[in-house]
Amino acid sequence: MTQAFELALPARLSFGAGRAADLPTVVAGHGRRVLVVTGGTPGRVEDVLAPVRAGMAAVAVVPVAGEPTVEDARAATRAGRGIDADVVLAVGGGSPIDLAKAAAMLLANGGDPMDYLEVVGRGQPITRDPLPLVAAPTTAGTGAEVTANAVLGVPEHGVKVSLRHPRMVPRHAVVDPALTLDCPPAVTAASGMDALTQCLEPYVSNRANPVTDGWARTGLLAAGRSLRVAHRDGADLAARTDMALCSTLGGLALANAKLGAVHGFAGVLGGLSGASHGAVCAALLTPVCRANLARADADLRGRFDAVARWLTGDAGALAEDGVAWLDRLVDDLGIPPLAAHGLTARQAEEVVAMAARASSMQGNPVPLTTEELTDVYLAALEGR
Ligand SMILES: NC(=O)c1ccc[n+]([C@@H]2O[C@H](COP(=O)([O-])OP(=O)(O)OC[C@H]3O[C@@H](n4cnc5c(N)ncnc54)[C@H](O)[C@@H]3O)[C@@H](O)[C@H]2O)c1
Repeated sequence: MTQAFELALPARLSFGAGRAADLPTVVAGHGRRVLVVTGGTPGRVEDVLAPVRAGMAAVAVVPVAGEPTVEDARAATRAGRGIDADVVLAVGGGSPIDLAKAAAMLLANGGDPMDYLEVVGRGQPITRDPLPLVAAPTTAGTGAEVTANAVLGVPEHGVKVSLRHPRMVPRHAVVDPALTLDCPPAVTAASGMDALTQCLEPYVSNRANPVTDGWARTGLLAAGRSLRVAHRDGADLAARTDMALCSTLGGLALANAKLGAVHGFAGVLGGLSGASHGAVCAALLTPVCRANLARADADLRGRFDAVARWLTGDAGALAEDGVAWLDRLVDDLGIPPLAAHGLTARQAEEVVAMAARASSMQGNPVPLTTEELTDVYLAALEGR
């Protein structure tokens, strides 16, 4: 029987090459004083920003060079207050989109990020709607333009954790695959593996529902046909469009079905090592699939068989074929195992204890034991 479910969705989602040209009208529909959050080199998206700026009474631009921290969230919120912002625009990867989500929430609710952060913060409820946020991704990976959380690094705790509430889903996601055409191969590889993982984990999660299943299936089919192509030939707009679709559908799926052990570990390992989120997901994906498959009942195995068919394009593929295909993909994309980021076996106990408490772990299809989680971590360290 289908479990009860509810969906958190953006009020509007525009998808397709060229849709970034709509941004001036979309942003002006929400306000006149815009806080803009971009990646570390705002000049890269100046063609997109210039027409937006032209229609605004006030503009503050906040660039974020790496994955955002609580301190970045405080600074972006101050910048927004400085112009009395009434709308927020994010143009960039998951990092600027998450920073914009945090600032839009804090500008409306007041207080400090630590008041609201889960796990290491005070976890206060978010009671007011954030400022309207328009999000236009320039990577195909996180799906952050349609999710209800903002991931922030908390350096003093050595972790990345989320601000989270259904109210935090951006008001309007503008997904233009052409904005990803200039992503270099390493970013395409890491963010593409994040997108793929964010379709796979919700599909096998214990919170999957018929709507998220459809999104995950379409996203996995798209990644299966196009991630290698987009990595090899960044100018291939059809492959970029498939990966943008996979990314946005992965975001919709994760926001509405939860994730699993890959993401349970990812926040911890990203916080400890500084490795990019997508690279961490890629290193963990097949060790987690193997651990879950070893404990799978017939239903879960059937789900992994379906994933294998969609990724490989082979109607006879079984779960193990899918895992082997993923191993080859990670190799071909040149993504190294976790040891390359300075993580070690000595950290296993600490890493596993922190990962077990992460909110994503609750979505894993089977509750993995401490021993099983330790094996996953050690396998991801060495790439086996
Ligand atoms: N909120 C969510 O639901 C969610 C989901 C998954 C991940 N995340 C978070 O998102 C962050 C990672 O985001 P990301 O993977 O998109 O990476 P990113 O935003 O950190 O960008 C990675 C690099 O690519 C560059 N870049 C971005 N777009 C480019 C383009 N079009 N051309 C050339 N260079 C470009 C950036 O400047 C940066 O150097 C992490 O903090 C992760 O935890 C959030």
